[in-house]
Amino acid sequence: MADPISYNREEKGAQPPNLFPPYVSSIKRAPQQRLLLVPQTLSEVTGPVYGHSKVLPDDSDLTRQHQGAPLGERIIVSGRVLDENGRPVPHTLVEIWQANAAGRYIHHGDQHPAPLDPNFTGAGRMLTDAEGGYKFVTVKPGAYPWRNHPNAWRPAHIHFSLFGPSFLTRLVTQMYFPGDPLIPHDPIYNAVPDKKAAARMISRFNFDTTMPEWALGFQFDIVLRGRNATPMEQ
Ligand SMILES: [Fe+2]
Repeated sequence: MADPISYNREEKGAQPPNLFPPYVSSIKRAPQQRLLLVPQTLSEVTGPVYGHSKVLPDDSDLTRQHQGAPLGERIIVSGRVLDENGRPVPHTLVEIWQANAAGRYIHHGDQHPAPLDPNFTGAGRMLTDAEGGYKFVTVKPGAYPWRNHPNAWRPAHIHFSLFGPSFLTRLVTQMYFPGDPLIPHDPIYNAVPDKKAAARMISRFNFDTTMPEWALGFQFDIVLRGRNATPMEQ
């Protein structure tokens, strides 16, 4: 059998370091030993096989997972997943999770005084189509406080997990909204040293996907690896 095709490593500065002291949790999370490079053998560069439960069409509409509609500003988040050479990554699993419109997560660790929404769980998933495209319907998440430093507020964001063609290409990142005044103050955003790379985490308002009388459209293309890679969490 031929040797598997390996993946290129990222550009320096385009990804956040493991340790970024202004992002206080990174102090505890950062490895204290030198990292080992995972060898890229066949099992690393071939794809995951999903089991358990099927991905259903409604899994990508976070506004229809309960009896009523969630409160908040309805939005459509869509884009394409691309590989390091700009080619679409088809049929790959995209998962998202987010706070509700009031900035509250359904999680026992989130007890700040904002209401839960009985009509919003905040999790969705879908497989990209043949052109690498994906589309979620959801509500715009609110900002929330997070005690990283005095008066710390996270900008509105949606968490994304992407598998790409294999386990080694899994990407976990956050999508931000254009014009959010909290972005320049956010240590997680600022952990990406290269500002041009960091800006790839900000979605673009898109009139083409905005639906009259229904929802605002935001475009977020994600590049899994290489020179134009979307910054990911380590
Ligand atoms: Fe979050």
